Amino acid sequence: MYLIGADYLLLCNEDFSIIKNGGIYFNENEILEIDTYENLQNKPAKSQKYYQNCVITPALTNLHIHLEFSQNEGSLKFGNFGKWLDSVIENRESLMDSSLQLQMQNTIQTLLQSGVGFVGAISSYGYDLEALANSPLRVLYFNEAIGSKVEALDMLYQNLLARLQDSQQFSSHHFFPALAIHSPYSVHSKMLQKVLNLAKTQSLPLSVHFLESKEEREWLETKKGYFQGFFERFFHTKMQPFYTISDFLNSFRGLKPYFVHCLEATYKDLEMIAKMQGKIISCPKSNRLLNNKILDLNLCKQSQIHPIFATDGKSSNDSLSLLDELRTALYAYMDYDLESLAKDLLLGVTYYAHKDNPLGIKAGSLKKGFLPDFAVFKTKAKEQLALMLLLYTKKAEALYIGGKQII
Ligand code: BEZ
Ligand code: FE2
Repeated sequence: MYLIGADYLLLCNEDFSIIKNGGIYFNENEILEIDTYENLQNKPAKSQKYYQNCVITPALTNLHIHLEFSQNEGSLKFGNFGKWLDSVIENRESLMDSSLQLQMQNTIQTLLQSGVGFVGAISSYGYDLEALANSPLRVLYFNEAIGSKVEALDMLYQNLLARLQDSQQFSSHHFFPALAIHSPYSVHSKMLQKVLNLAKTQSLPLSVHFLESKEEREWLETKKGYFQGFFERFFHTKMQPFYTISDFLNSFRGLKPYFVHCLEATYKDLEMIAKMQGKIISCPKSNRLLNNKILDLNLCKQSQIHPIFATDGKSSNDSLSLLDELRTALYAYMDYDLESLAKDLLLGVTYYAHKDNPLGIKAGSLKKGFLPDFAVFKTKAKEQLALMLLLYTKKAEALYIGGKQII
C-alpha cells in the first residue's frame, strides 16, 4: 500500500469536487481510500509522499491519437481538408520509414510528460503495436479498417483480422484491443457490416472518424465535390457514396461507439449519437488545421453530449501534448466562460473520457475502487485550479500508472 498527497486533489467527478490537503491511499490495482492526507497518514504504507504546491488529478486520457504518423513534421499540407488528404495519400508510405520506431518512442515520452496515462490509439498498419504494448501507458488499441474498392475488401478484411489477433496477444489490464472504422467515405458498406459484426460478437470498443470536413458532408449529401475527384485521381473509378448520413449512423446502433470530430454534424446527427449512447471525441488543433473550425460546444450541450478531448496524430497536429491541446482550446473557445470551460476541458480528458465506457474500465476520476493512475502538476494557485492548471502547466511533475511512479 502507498500514500500520496498534495495541496489539492481534483477528483474529476461530475461536480468537480476538490479536496484540500488531500491524500490517496492505494495499491497497484486500485484506489483504496481518499481523504485528507492527515487522516490517512496512520495507515500502513510502503511509502508516503506529499507534493507541496501541487495538484493531483487522475492521469489524463488522450483517446484519439495516430502514433504511426509520428514522423510528420511538414510533409502533410494543412488549411484545407482536400489538400491534406491528397498529401496523406501521397506521403503515407514515406512517413513509415525505418526511423518510425524511434519517433514513436519520442511521442510516447511527450504523452507521458504531459500527464497522459491512457491513450486511444488508432492503428492503421500495426507498426505501433509493440511500442504501445511495451510502454507504461494503458492503451485502447483501435485496429482500423479501411477499404473502398470491392475487389480489395477480402484481402483488407483478412489483414484487419490478422492485426486484431496480433493485438489480442497483448491483452491485459494495460492493453485493450478494439476496432476502428476509418470513415464513411473510405469504408465500403460490405466491410462496415463485417467489422460491426466483429465488434458485436467479440464485444470490442469501436471508434470512427465522422463528419470531419465539409468535403465529407458534401459527398455524403450530394454525391459530388472533392471526393468525386479524389476517387477518380487516386482509384481511377467513378465512385458513389456508400451511405447517407443517417443510414451510416443507424448502422452503429447497439454499439455505443466513439465518433471522432463530428465538426459538420447537425443537431439531428448529434441527437442520433446521443440516443445510441455514442461518445464524441474532439481534437481542436487538428480540426482548426484541417477544417478551419472547432466543435460547437453549445450544440453538444443541447444534445446532452459531453465531448472527450484529444490531440489526434502528428498527421494533423504539431505535438501530442494534451496540455498544449487544452490550453489552445481555452483560447480558441472565446465565447465560453473561462473557468467553466477549463473544467469542461479537464473533465473531457478525465471523467468524460471514461464515463460509461464499453469495457467498464474504472478510470478518469479519483475515487475508491478506481485505477491508481495519477498525474501530479505543480501550481502556485489556490483558486480557479482547473484554469490555472491548463494555463500554466507545460508538463507533469509526476505520473503514476498502476500505482507505480513512471515520471
Ligand atoms: C481507401 O483506402 O480505400 C481510401 C483511403 C482514403 C480515402 C478513401 C478511400
Ligand atoms: Fe484521427
